[in-house]
Amino acid sequence: MKKEGKEFKVTPYEVSGKVNYEKLIREFGVEKLDDKLLERIKKHTKELHLFLRRKVFFSHRDLNWLLDEQEKGNKFFLYTGRASSTGSKVHLGHLIPWIMCKWLQDKFNAEMWFQFPDEEKFLYKPEVTLKDTEKATHEDMLDVIALGFNPKKTNFLIDTKHAGLMYKEACRVAKKITFSTVKASFGFNDSTNIGSIFYTAMQAVPAFLPSVLKGKNIPCLIPLGIDQDPHFRISRDIMPKLGYYKPAILHSVFLPSLSGMGGKMSASKEYSIFTTDTEKQVEEKIKKYAFSGGQPTVQEHRKKGGNPDVDVSYQYLKMFFEPDDKKLQKIHDDYKSGKLLTSELKEILIEKINKFLKEHQKKRELAREQVDKFIFKD
Ligand code: TYM
Repeated sequence: MKKEGKEFKVTPYEVSGKVNYEKLIREFGVEKLDDKLLERIKKHTKELHLFLRRKVFFSHRDLNWLLDEQEKGNKFFLYTGRASSTGSKVHLGHLIPWIMCKWLQDKFNAEMWFQFPDEEKFLYKPEVTLKDTEKATHEDMLDVIALGFNPKKTNFLIDTKHAGLMYKEACRVAKKITFSTVKASFGFNDSTNIGSIFYTAMQAVPAFLPSVLKGKNIPCLIPLGIDQDPHFRISRDIMPKLGYYKPAILHSVFLPSLSGMGGKMSASKEYSIFTTDTEKQVEEKIKKYAFSGGQPTVQEHRKKGGNPDVDVSYQYLKMFFEPDDKKLQKIHDDYKSGKLLTSELKEILIEKINKFLKEHQKKRELAREQVDKFIFKD
């Protein structure tokens, strides 16, 4: 439930309302990713991914420190994750932090640690079984591999499989987190099961596990959707007490749901586009659900023009599917002037998404043979 007077809510377990990101920056106590910092990143990477250029990643924690370390020769590793669940397939929004990780892996030749906490949704959702999450985890790994991570530099951690490696470290973290902190951060109450309360300690572990394994402190960068930040807001302060660095974090906004009603694209809603959707499903969903900033009739649209700022199809092109700044500007201007109709804008998006998914689905099938190469062998 939203608190009195609050128009939106962002926690790892609930995102609702129209998210005000400026406000979130203040509430979460994170820093804006400004142009100066983007320039600093560009010095290393030579170019900026569209997720950075267009501020899809909009805030951070300790990124300047991370780059200081990198420049001193203390290279960082990357960490992110995915909690699989029944009936919760990977959608386009999930791919945003993962694509960012893959790009950063290439640019910085960084090692990647990817966590699959297969107990998280089991603990949190009454209807989910561990058998379900095991199956879903396997499927979701295919999406991650399909993005092109380097198998020699990428390690998958599965909580129940790697429990022997992770549990001791999770206990060290858990000992320093109180129930009242977790309650306040995640909206838990006295009826919440104790597994959910403990979970945040498991999510903290991969941020310093490579340091444990290599016996030296290694900086860590975690690209994620900002809903996951609270886990690290709690656990970051603990890591120096255990002798490790605090991880740096890079936060993305949410790819909105097709409905344009605010909130994020969510795995349980029909207005999400999943990585396994067929061309026809994509077409139908966009045509039926993608919220339009156009006018009710063609005549009116030609006269008054559309509003790209609220148009979901335009937002998807801007955030993800049209990397060419000039082409995007033209779509923006034509839509605003009424030259481009909503149906035409939707056609552009449908074609882009289907082209992307066709490639992705091919690689996703090939990934079935590669899963074992990515799972960490301890
Ligand atoms: P999960 O499985 O809910 O989501 C995986 C990642 O996708 C991001 N995300 C989105 N990003 C942009 N737009 C959206 N509409 C959108 N929806 C989801 C999430 O923020 C997340 O980064 N507890 C985690 C799993 C996890 C993890 C981590 C995530 C374990 N370790 C370390 C980030 C970093 C979870 O349930 O993610």
